[in-house]
Amino acid sequence: MKKTIVIRVDSQAPEIERVRRASEFIRRGGLVSFPTETVYGLGADALNPSAVRSLYHAKDRPFDNPPILHIGYPQDVGILAAEVPVKAEKLMRKYWPGPLTLIFKRSEIIPDITVASLDTVAVRMPRHAVALALIRESRRTIAAPSANLAGRPSPTSAEHVLSDLNGRIDAVLDAGPTAIGVESTVLDITVDPPQILRPGGISYEVLKRALRRVDIHPEAIATSPVPIEKARSPGQIHKHYAPNADLMIVEGDVTSMVAKIRDLTQCLSRNGKKIGVLATDETVGFYEADAVKSLGSRKDLANVAANLFALLRQFDSEAIEVIVAEGLPSKGLGLAIMNRLRKASGYRIVRA
Ligand code: TXA
Ligand code: MG
Repeated sequence: MKKTIVIRVDSQAPEIERVRRASEFIRRGGLVSFPTETVYGLGADALNPSAVRSLYHAKDRPFDNPPILHIGYPQDVGILAAEVPVKAEKLMRKYWPGPLTLIFKRSEIIPDITVASLDTVAVRMPRHAVALALIRESRRTIAAPSANLAGRPSPTSAEHVLSDLNGRIDAVLDAGPTAIGVESTVLDITVDPPQILRPGGISYEVLKRALRRVDIHPEAIATSPVPIEKARSPGQIHKHYAPNADLMIVEGDVTSMVAKIRDLTQCLSRNGKKIGVLATDETVGFYEADAVKSLGSRKDLANVAANLFALLRQFDSEAIEVIVAEGLPSKGLGLAIMNRLRKASGYRIVRA
């Protein structure tokens, strides 16, 4: 067990001496969790193989699933990528810093363990002032998966990080809850047209406007598990985002969905289960269960995304055994929200 220290920092104007304290851990091969605009990451020096090894261990993460490398300046991609296609340069100018991760052919400088021996590397420049300050102050590329135990919902607050990783990491920079709440979009730019491997903070519609042609990998919109040989990203084959409770998604038009969820909750509570419903502002009044929570309005998917992982964790803290969640429209951020919910449910999807 390590002692995990909590360093509170201002989210807009991080106090430099506090950031420096955290950066010293990174420079010495330690592990520091830090906020990004999407979720909290767990950082280690990307070019230090033993630091990266301890990163996988702290999360219980399989060694075949590489982290995203976080940089402090766009030009740092030149050290990590073997080539930077013209389309990538355009996206970097437009969306970095921001919630867009690009997959490049990797350079030789990166240790094998950092990229799980793939011939590609995932890179992003985050927008959060604390993340940028930590990377720049460390003068390192920071490898950072989301700061949860493997398979759990991603952390959107320092409390979530501590509940999974207290005693396993050196420090967490606590700057309050993150803004976006779902992870970055992962875009493979080594193929033409570029392909979204994981929908996230930058929507398909926005990328399509910038690139004209962009594909979505079938796994990213799947409603049932995709065979391993079809996966293009290690993250597509691992269990993800799951609360301890069993999660079930009901999809369909709002009226039929509400009716179906009312049936399901009645039936499940007759069987003595502790039931939770993950609803929206428009529908929350229709349900009776041990816990009924609203993600926010269906018309404000940004707010829904920001609440999603925190609510899944709240059900766990109330010892809910089965969560029944409403499906949401797959437009804009909704694509990322539904991807996370479906995966978290293990594709237990009921059509209403
Ligand atoms: O918003 C985010 O992206 C957060 C914050 C901390 O930046 N990070 C994050 O990292 O979500 P992680 O490790 O939880 O997810 C990274 C995803 C995984 O699905 C992984 O398989 C995929 O990116 N990935 C990493 N390297 C890859 C590569 N070379 N090719 C394809 N997919 C890759
Ligand atoms: Mg993750």
